[in-house]
Amino acid sequence: MHSESIRYIGVNDHEIDLFEGQYPVPLGMSYNAWVILDEKVCVLDTVDRSCAADYLKNLAAALDGRQPDYLVVSHVEPDHASSLQLFVDAYPQVTLVGNAKTFQMLDNYFQLGPVAKQMVKEGETLSLGAHTLRFITAPMVHWPEVMFSYEESEQVLFSADAFGKFGALDMEDDWDDEARRYYLNIVGKYGPQVQAVLKKAAGLSIRTICPLHGPTLDETIPHVLEKYQLWSTYTPEAEGVLIAYASLHGNTAAVAEKLADTLDKKGCPEVMLCDLARNDFSEALAQAFRFGKVVLAASTYNAGTMPFMEDFINHLRAKNWQKRTVGLVENGSWAPMAAKNMKAQLEGLKELTFLEPVVTIKGAPKTSDLPAIEALADALMA
Ligand SMILES: Cc1cc2nc3c(=O)[nH]c(=O)nc-3n(C[C@H](O)[C@H](O)[C@H](O)COP(=O)(O)O)c2cc1C
Ligand SMILES: [Fe+2]
Ligand SMILES: [Fe+2]
Repeated sequence: MHSESIRYIGVNDHEIDLFEGQYPVPLGMSYNAWVILDEKVCVLDTVDRSCAADYLKNLAAALDGRQPDYLVVSHVEPDHASSLQLFVDAYPQVTLVGNAKTFQMLDNYFQLGPVAKQMVKEGETLSLGAHTLRFITAPMVHWPEVMFSYEESEQVLFSADAFGKFGALDMEDDWDDEARRYYLNIVGKYGPQVQAVLKKAAGLSIRTICPLHGPTLDETIPHVLEKYQLWSTYTPEAEGVLIAYASLHGNTAAVAEKLADTLDKKGCPEVMLCDLARNDFSEALAQAFRFGKVVLAASTYNAGTMPFMEDFINHLRAKNWQKRTVGLVENGSWAPMAAKNMKAQLEGLKELTFLEPVVTIKGAPKTSDLPAIEALADALMA
């Protein structure tokens, strides 16, 4: 943030292994927070409690002896609000700013005592002097109480978890990849709610977006909005095929590789193979959203599906995966059942098109299996 009045006071977390207890973050995580220094001093958000000491140090340095008048609570989830008690202990004269749901939810985490609270509603403003914050509710992006704040004089949108990504700010990575994995795993289920808030934001002139995770955005705002438009409408981004497989003894894996090879030879623009047992499920899920065509290949396991595939489909269901073309490959030594099971598990997801043929392998793939693999590749290329 290049403003004299709006200062970054967030932290990088390099100790964290799993974000929200399940998503690997090898490049760490940032918990962002800001302070606006004007006639009134307004802090936007705290950070995860594990990083509270660094945060309070950053805050004190930015305040340079002043006291915060307001603390805006954009999101009550612990990665942003679990240092709130420490904040209030350090600055007991502060007024907490949130909506009705914010305060209800804070009571679930804290017994805050007699701290001042200012309840705000959609569209209300808070004047700080030259700066004015306007509040925009963003329910279910990512929790019900989530609230954006738009600073009118510098045209800054404080966007809570929206437009965030995995990875600490002092690490280099690709914004698209880690923002996609973050968005689809964390907010993915709530596309219509994201659409609703994008429509509200479309009326604003935005120079800078300050999300609670990942870098501040300026020149890339059009690109980022384009990505959010695709992700929140479940629209594929890439031409090509993801082949996700779960294989007990490697035969299904060999079929997946053969299929990938066949697709390559037919000129498929991009083919990605993913071993669900050995790769991060959250990355596989992000790729299942990136591609429009996905092949699910699995061994039969005790008349069911190999658990890594079953889990993966559960994750797809949990994120409302939809509008995709699906190919199925199964393997079984005596009574292959995986394809039937996978299809049943996908039932109810919207606008899935299942391709023919389903490839059924008994044990190791043989020459007699090649025509079916070829036919599935042709269907994927059509
Ligand atoms: C624990 C276990 C359970 C299995 N259950 C079934 C089954 O219910 N039906 C079947 O046809 N094959 C079953 N199989 C056999 C595998 O599906 C078969 O070996 C298949 O070829 C595995 O493909 P893969 O090499 O990709 O793992 C089972 C294998 C294992 C190890
Ligand atoms: Fe969140
Ligand atoms: Fe968050």
